[in-house]
Amino acid sequence: MSNSILFPNDFLFGAATSSFQVEGAWNKDGKGESIWDKICHTPGTIENGDTGDVACDHYSRYSTDVKLMKQLGLNAYRFSISWPRIFPTGEGEANSKGLKFYDHLIDELIENEITPFATLYHWDLPLKLYTAHDGWQSEKVVEAFVGYANYVFKQFGDRVKHWITFNEPQVFVGHHPNTEGFKKTFGINKGESERRTDAIVELQNVYKAHAQTIQAYRDLDHSNGGKIGIGINLLPVYPISEHPSDQALVHIVDSEANRLYLEPVLLGSYPSDLIENYERMFKFPFPQGETSLLKSVLPLDFLGINYYTRIRIGFNNPEEITDDASFAKKLQARDIQVNPPQEGMECSEMNWEIYPDGLYDILKRVDEEYNPPEIYITENGMAGKDNKIIDNLVYDTDRVDYLRQHFMQANRAIKVGVNLKGFFIWSLLDNFEWFHGYSKRFGLIRVDFDTQERIWKKSAHWYRQVIENKGF
Ligand code: GAL
Repeated sequence: MSNSILFPNDFLFGAATSSFQVEGAWNKDGKGESIWDKICHTPGTIENGDTGDVACDHYSRYSTDVKLMKQLGLNAYRFSISWPRIFPTGEGEANSKGLKFYDHLIDELIENEITPFATLYHWDLPLKLYTAHDGWQSEKVVEAFVGYANYVFKQFGDRVKHWITFNEPQVFVGHHPNTEGFKKTFGINKGESERRTDAIVELQNVYKAHAQTIQAYRDLDHSNGGKIGIGINLLPVYPISEHPSDQALVHIVDSEANRLYLEPVLLGSYPSDLIENYERMFKFPFPQGETSLLKSVLPLDFLGINYYTRIRIGFNNPEEITDDASFAKKLQARDIQVNPPQEGMECSEMNWEIYPDGLYDILKRVDEEYNPPEIYITENGMAGKDNKIIDNLVYDTDRVDYLRQHFMQANRAIKVGVNLKGFFIWSLLDNFEWFHGYSKRFGLIRVDFDTQERIWKKSAHWYRQVIENKGF
């Protein structure tokens, strides 16, 4: 086989999961309840009434799953630690059985030469911290998080050398609290602009926790040789037309979707143009955040990028915009089109446009504008139909195609000098896809949720070959 797409020798070929989405065992061995347990147990929130109670039963089957990783040839695995499994109420006394689970998982990964990447927060906030303190609105939660992180570093830091503080702040501060499922569960009844201000306060608390956690990590002896970063979902934004007002709109949407999350952790500040907009449009004095704290932990050791799709955006009838006032009026009225259908456009089962070039664009841009020391793709993958199963093999040729194209774009970025060190496919296993329950399948390995059988897909075979050849 002649390899045309080759990856560096030390490239990490990984797969990713998160605690809530795969572990199950929601109340086993002293685990506390998380906000996601509560959401799932509230009727009418999750598709088909699914819950995370059992999920992939990874809590009991982790050994089998590590063997699968080994068969795939993975040299890295990204998982998350469930905060309420370690501290059932978020703080106080640690739960030794919960610790043991991660202890064994980490040991087995290392025995199998699979580098562990541990995420500290992939959305399963201890419920108690939400109900007692209003979640990320509160400094108390910041303190509790840093305490939890510090404890976990002491337990596992001798073996885990790659840490991710938070997964996708944009989703858990900006998106989830606005969903019907979240509002229903927690009785939130706030207007949009109030929610927007809340989201900014929450983001600033999350980023304060992020920075304090990095400080705590670097102060520890066994952080020697270890690296700590964050995982951010990025959505490159493109204009629908060439009209200058669409270009200006792209700038605003990009600030809200990407720069707001990137700049505090890469530059140590919140984007100033966005702050002005918020102050003008929402009459909301943007708290300036802990910029000196954020700056004190720069540079970040690595940036994790989660990439799935892009945004295409433009005004309806942009020619009606003639000056600043008409621009502002249309913007406030949201007289905007987002992702209008386009000929030839293909979408995944999530209805997300498949746009591999966006991965290259975003990698190159992040590298040029912010130049983080290292970059990992911490998530990329697709939900497919996965409905062709013959002789216990899933023919997910659409996923093979998707992955091939995205790996090509990643490779293209490396060739122009982007320091991309690894790629984690989302996901190792079909799993609990949040409000969609088990209806969306992202795995390289299929899970039969009735029997918990793991079934290989074509994409898993494809990936095994890619890893073996360091390319294709
Ligand atoms: C990400 C998230 C994952 C997974 C994936 C697919 O936003 O981090 O947990 O659900 O999307 O939707």
